[in-house]
Amino acid sequence: MQIFLDTAKIDEIRKLAPTGVVDGVTTNPSLLAKAGCKDIKGAIKEICSLVKEPVSVEVIGTMADQMIKEAREYSSWKLNTAIKIPMTEEGLKAVSVLSKEGIKTNVTLIFSTSQGLLAAKAGATFVSPFVGRLDDISHNGLEVVRDLAHIFKIYGINTRIIAASIRHPIHVVESAKAGAHIATVPTKVLESMFRHPLTDIGIEKFLSDWKGLQESK
Ligand code: G3P
Repeated sequence: MQIFLDTAKIDEIRKLAPTGVVDGVTTNPSLLAKAGCKDIKGAIKEICSLVKEPVSVEVIGTMADQMIKEAREYSSWKLNTAIKIPMTEEGLKAVSVLSKEGIKTNVTLIFSTSQGLLAAKAGATFVSPFVGRLDDISHNGLEVVRDLAHIFKIYGINTRIIAASIRHPIHVVESAKAGAHIATVPTKVLESMFRHPLTDIGIEKFLSDWKGLQESK
């Protein structure tokens, strides 16, 4: 399974990219605002230089023609991007046009299997079920990931599932088990996945034993 970072903070991406575990990045208007990005093109260009998979950049328009216009503008940058389109009827009209033009799309704000299925049918490159936000309202977010993975497998659908709205490492592991192709993970969650207290204790013990051996020479 691939791991994307769910952030627009370039320093965080720059710090974690050398670990070799970050395949891509997803942004959205909230994340760009949080990162204080004013030069969106410059920020996306720099992020694209740090990862190999398409970087998601989201449209603001709500009508298909507005979304298509924005998507064409982003794709004129000639960067490795996927255009994030909200899961609405208008959004899918845009996806249908853009997919025929070879523009990659990531249909976002997916909260049900039926929405994910329609987005894939419209030609989405990626679909993003929001696991955490579903769990927040007592639904099972992972169920949507599992069902979509099952359906896509049966019909040989190439759309890739990005488990999004990830809140903790167990969401990542369970998304992998449910068949998500990708999990897009906030920096804090990814950093916590590197650590285990027994690893720290183990390192400390090896070092102190080694030190003891040197001192006994
Ligand atoms: O990738 C979607 C993500 O940015 C939303 O996450 O934590 O706001 O539900 P969250």
